[in-house]
Amino acid sequence: MNSQKKLYNSNRPIKVTHIVGARPNFMKVAPLMREVSRYPQKFDQLLVHTGQHYDEEMSKSFFNDLKLTEPDIYLGVGSGTHAEQTGKIMIEFERVCFQEKPDLVIVVGDVNSTIACALVAAKHCIPVAHIEAGLRSFDRTMPEEINRVITDRLSDYLFTTCEDANQNLIEEGISENKIFFVGNAMIDSLLNHIKIAKNSIILEKLGLRKNNNIKKYGLVTLHRPSNVDNQKIFKGILDALKEIAKEIPIIFPAHPRTIKQIKNFKLIEMVNYEENFLPNELKNTDQNIVTIPPLGYLDFLCLMTNAKMVLTDSGGIQEETTILGIPCLTLRNNTERPITVKEGTNIVVGNDPEKIMEIAFSVLKNGISRKRIPKYWDGKAAERIVKVLLTKWKY
Ligand code: UD1
Repeated sequence: MNSQKKLYNSNRPIKVTHIVGARPNFMKVAPLMREVSRYPQKFDQLLVHTGQHYDEEMSKSFFNDLKLTEPDIYLGVGSGTHAEQTGKIMIEFERVCFQEKPDLVIVVGDVNSTIACALVAAKHCIPVAHIEAGLRSFDRTMPEEINRVITDRLSDYLFTTCEDANQNLIEEGISENKIFFVGNAMIDSLLNHIKIAKNSIILEKLGLRKNNNIKKYGLVTLHRPSNVDNQKIFKGILDALKEIAKEIPIIFPAHPRTIKQIKNFKLIEMVNYEENFLPNELKNTDQNIVTIPPLGYLDFLCLMTNAKMVLTDSGGIQEETTILGIPCLTLRNNTERPITVKEGTNIVVGNDPEKIMEIAFSVLKNGISRKRIPKYWDGKAAERIVKVLLTKWKY
């Protein structure tokens, strides 16, 4: 633990500051905040939103779906280059640290908000807890890999989702005393919301459910710079999707950066982009690609649950499909989540169009069998995290 840590009065609640910034953070923080709130004598909690993601569909709708409390502090940093975004978050979050004097900063995942706030806290000798520590793709061309490695280096409590993460941390020389294998907080959220997601009417809106019959469809998400920032690669993936869409319709809720690139590269005709996809609009999904703006948590969960297969370059979706038992084709050359391949339903495919088609058609024909549910992906990760904090916190 940090040697310069302040001396605490053990009667005072621990002042915990949670950081969220980007879409994949919200579902990891929601179960933790709920669990922390069960101990009002032990913890005071504060939610800081950096504003890395700011569009309604990338942020606000998640607060509604997950019943997250409004952020106590909104930094409003927005988009920028990596240095601009990380730097702006650091400057703004340092002010929060001066003002609020947190006892513990909790960061999640691997986005720029994670590394920025961990770095500020560590320099102010505020202990840092990292949820989802130890994941490694061993690919330093991914900005997230750099964020993971540095955040773990700076953290005092490293909460991991799987044994390979523990091993990665040990191999990097991190003391075992700081590593806590607690399971997957994002899966806590999934299990908490799966029932309510069944009430979503997204299948009707897309014309995928009629008279209780659900059409077969594939679900796609793409946003990694390595896939969507290069015209040739992006077009190659869309060519493959077009072929797959001759067999089953493809629903493609697209990230804002992806939509921007679709427009830049003049690929709009390939993807049937429904810019004005309205809440009550009924779609007649035919054998084609239907591209729509990003969806909220519950609608997306409903679509994932009923999909024949998912093709994605997201990290979290590899884990969610593993729990749902839905085949997941990961359109990247590596994964920081190998447990989803070993124990789940994930196949790392890469972004070569021929390979994507070959594996997609094979999965459509033969399916894929789920091996097992990874250890501690049971809805109780937040409970374990809080238990560790309560027992290990040094007053
Ligand atoms: C970030 C994370 C990535 C995560 C992804 C989930 C980093 C380095 N990357 O990538 O790990 O998988 O979030 O979405 O932190 N934009 C909007 N509205 C928004 C947010 C973004 O239009 O609300 C557009 C902007 O043009 C922006 C671009 O998307 O420049 C990229 O946003 P940014 O947060 O920088 O990275 P993501 O690609 O979202």
